[in-house]
Amino acid sequence: MTINIRFLPDDVTVNAEVGESLLDVADRAGVSIPTGCLMGSCHACTVELDDGEVIRACITPVPPGKEELTINLFSDPTW
Ligand code: FES
Repeated sequence: MTINIRFLPDDVTVNAEVGESLLDVADRAGVSIPTGCLMGSCHACTVELDDGEVIRACITPVPPGKEELTINLFSDPTW
């Protein structure tokens, strides 16, 4: 099952498999999500979904049950 993932503010949309790592998807889209620990503890990779939910991309796979997902990259992550 695939869904469309749209990255803002660049406005790039790519196709992704459910369960795929969001970092891999972003990479394929040519979008770079800042990362640090890759283990869910530093919050460097924090992005926001279209429903306002804030997630850490390094520990979040593409969720099932949606046809489209919009991911907002914070242009100014707070460390
Ligand atoms: S890279 Fe550290 S929380 Fe994701």
